[in-house]
Amino acid sequence: MLPKKANRERVLPVLDHAPSLSLEAVRAVSQETGVPAADVYGTASFYTLIGGEPRTRVCQGLSCQLAGADALLARLRAAGEPVEAVSCVGQCDRAPARLDPALEVVAERARGAVLPASPELAMNLAGADGTDYPGLAWARARGAEAVLEALEASGLQGRGGAGFSTATKWRMVRGQAEAERYVVCNADEAEPGTFKDRELILRRPHLLLEGIAIAAHTVEARSAYVYIRGEYTAEYRSLERALEAARGTPLLEGLTIELVRGHGAYICGEETAMLESMEGKRGMPRLKPPYPTEQGFRGKPTVINNVETLACVPAILVRGGAWFRALGKTEPGTKLYCVSGHVARPGVYELPLGVNLDELVEAAGGYVGTPRFFSPGGASSGFLPITQRALPLDFGSLGKQGSFLGSAGVVVLNDTVDLAQAARWQAVFFEDESCGQCAPCRIGTRLLRRSLDRYLESGDPAALEHVDDVAWEMDEGSICGLGYTAFLPLTSLRKHFPESFGARAQGGRA
Ligand SMILES: Cc1cc2nc3c(=O)[nH]c(=O)nc-3n(C[C@H](O)[C@H](O)[C@H](O)COP(=O)(O)O)c2cc1C
Ligand code: SF4
Repeated sequence: MLPKKANRERVLPVLDHAPSLSLEAVRAVSQETGVPAADVYGTASFYTLIGGEPRTRVCQGLSCQLAGADALLARLRAAGEPVEAVSCVGQCDRAPARLDPALEVVAERARGAVLPASPELAMNLAGADGTDYPGLAWARARGAEAVLEALEASGLQGRGGAGFSTATKWRMVRGQAEAERYVVCNADEAEPGTFKDRELILRRPHLLLEGIAIAAHTVEARSAYVYIRGEYTAEYRSLERALEAARGTPLLEGLTIELVRGHGAYICGEETAMLESMEGKRGMPRLKPPYPTEQGFRGKPTVINNVETLACVPAILVRGGAWFRALGKTEPGTKLYCVSGHVARPGVYELPLGVNLDELVEAAGGYVGTPRFFSPGGASSGFLPITQRALPLDFGSLGKQGSFLGSAGVVVLNDTVDLAQAARWQAVFFEDESCGQCAPCRIGTRLLRRSLDRYLESGDPAALEHVDDVAWEMDEGSICGLGYTAFLPLTSLRKHFPESFGARAQGGRA
């Protein structure tokens, strides 16, 4: 007999402690939560970190592939180690990387650079982090309207990908008639090429918590959550420690902040998929509208912001919106750019929003080899030719080129890389990570990867003849950003380098 009232939100946390996904284990979770066993299994099977034998997870993200991920996988397999190839582990600066069965990072290199260091920066990754929370004190002393005005003056655009105005989002939630509201910090960061939120959480966890508390204070929410990707083990510990240190400080006056651990699904970074996951379901994006600002977590108005967005807020209040705006080059503020691939010093660089590729790579110690193309904002942004190296890396300029700043996960590729192979690595990622609810995305991502396989095997360009039609279908028929962008790595490369997708030697390079 199941308990009368099911507690669906408990399903995923309880599954975390389940020994396996055996029938018995699933039934035990069902008994504890009141959710039918078939439903528990259906939810669990969506997530890659739930169930299965203990194994090493080898990253297949673009930067890891450039650094020999396939060879690493083959070596571990040959040594008899239980291994699984996984989409991305968020360690592009120390590629090729893997996670041990306890989800701790194994990499030959230390984490990359975090430069420059200066108190004149909005986040200053190398700065001291502590429990003073001056921005929160400012917000409490001056009130919500003053916070919103400072945000408006700052021009802060969301750093999670879409660049939506933070002030507008907070105002929308504040203006709702419903009194129960939530704040959710999106720390799911799983886009290959991106590892900036990781550094913020590791180095400035209190800055992030302060931004969350200011958001909660402004929209009058009493509960806030940080949804952190399941692969971020050290980062989870960093936040746990910071929350412990914040006990008894003004940060937690009238507010609870809970950590919610993800379970291995890139799509849960999409804000409505994240809410579904927090509610104990498969992480499938919702149809919008309604937007989370009206009906978010538990159907209540919810502010959802990226880690970096929230971490910008304390300095904006303390130093002023105009100060923040003036830090940018072409758009307001500084930005955390992640750089990896063929550069001398991969890492996270806080630079004026709108620097170009050459300026960014100069900070990162220069190019390795002769650069040929780059991905400006994670897998979803596609690729641009190196001839666009002078383009400002901002929301507007990249949008005009049919690309995106996205998560600012910049990956540089030199002329030793086979373009079709690079497109295939990205295609595999999207095929694996599509949640599967829209047919154009589910079938389209598979078709694109298969077309590339056929092209790479046969060298016959006819293998790619339906690619543009498939891309159109995906763009028209998908309900979330994954479906709108998953074709871009291939279509952008074909557009910019048509000569590289002609007939080629069978099974070999162009
Ligand atoms: C497929 C997909 C994955 C996403 N992944 C993330 C992510 O990992 N982190 C994030 O902050 N936003 C991600 N987003 C964007 C979120 O949906 C949302 O726009 C963002 O968290 C809002 O915060 P912001 O206004 O501070 O940018 C993703 C969007 C899509 C379509
Ligand atoms: S577009 Fe793709 S990932 Fe997004 S909801 Fe549809 S099937 Fe899922």
